[in-house]
Order: sequence, then C-alpha cells, then structure tokens
Amino acid sequence: MVKINLAVFASGTGTNFQNLYHTFKDDKNTNLELLISNNSGSGAIEFAKENGIRFKHISSKTHSDPDEAILDELMKSEIDLIALAGYMKKLSPKLIQTFENRILNIHPSLLPKFGGKGMFGMNVHRAVIESAEKQSGATVHLVNEEYDKGKIIIQKSVKIDRDETPESLQKKVAKIEYEIYPLAIKEYISQLVNYINKLF
Ligand code: GRF
Repeated sequence: MVKINLAVFASGTGTNFQNLYHTFKDDKNTNLELLISNNSGSGAIEFAKENGIRFKHISSKTHSDPDEAILDELMKSEIDLIALAGYMKKLSPKLIQTFENRILNIHPSLLPKFGGKGMFGMNVHRAVIESAEKQSGATVHLVNEEYDKGKIIIQKSVKIDRDETPESLQKKVAKIEYEIYPLAIKEYISQLVNYINKLF
C-alpha cells in the first residue's frame, strides 16, 4: 500500500498545521512526516513537540546553508509532498524545481487579488477592507518561483459585511482555510496514489 509522506512548513501560530495534523492523523494514504519551521518560538513547533510530530528548526541561525539543510531533511525523510502553512521564508529555486508541482500553499485571499510580496497575514485583510471589496476568501495553489502565482487548485469565498474589520475577516477566512486546505491536499494525494498504483 503506497503512502505519501507529507511535510508541512510553518513559521507562526500554526493553526493550519494543527488542522492538517488532525486531518491526516489516521489517514490511509498519508503520513504527516515532518514539520519544518524557521522560527523556534512558533506555535507550530510547540504543537509538534506536544504531539510527538517530527520537526526541524532550520534557519540562518541554526544552519550555515538553510536551503541545503531543508533539502537534505526532505530527502532523508523521503518527502513526496510539501504543504506551506504560513511559512514566511522564500523557498530556494532548487527546492521549487526539485518538488515541481508538489508544493502547495494556502493564501488568505481570492488570488490573483491581494497576492504578491508583502501580502501576508493582516496586511491582506486590511488591504481587502480598504479596497471596499464585497467578498474575500482563501486560495490553495501550487507554488512556483513567483509569489502567489502558481496554478490555483481551489478557492472559496466569504461575504464581507458592512461592519467588517480586518480582524473579523481574518477569522472568517481562517474558518474556510481549515475546510479547503485538507480537501485540496487529500485530493492531490489521492491523485498521486492512483498514479503510482497504475505504475506498479
Ligand atoms: C494563514 O492565513 C494562511 O493563509 C497564510 O498564513 C496564515 C497561517 O496561519 N499562508 P496559521 O499559522 O496557520 O494560523
């Protein structure tokens, strides 16, 4: 039985990471093998410690060549698929090429709107409210070398209310992130598993 090894990259609170952990804990197709974080104080690492999930803290403070260290770790752990979940470091071109079409990201807006450099966290929700948008949402997409420009896999929208604030919008969007990210990853993995099963 083929199992896909998934690595999650997260730098912050890690609520999406936690959600993915619960989703894949007993999944027949997937091992959530590894967390990579550049932030030793992140909620993601704290959760990994508490739940016995393998994690690696890799940053320029811990490694002279963090990009190589990440690749080494992914190879050692035989990672098949990467899910970025609030990872605040740009990935190296080598990593993106090595894992072409095998890196997913979740972004808290309806891409291509409100994506690109500097568009992360509350910056996104503030920009959405300032632009008087009627709706926002979340997008799961493949990662390529341009910020937030890879192929879109799934999107879901939320309505923006009259009295919406960046904070209330963030909460609404987070809820749908917890819905669509596991869905998208599961679907991606089941396609990978079917493909591999056909080969052998
Ligand atoms: C999420 O809003 C996600 O869309 C973005 O980073 C945030 C991560 O939040 N890529 P959390 O650390 O999972 O709570």
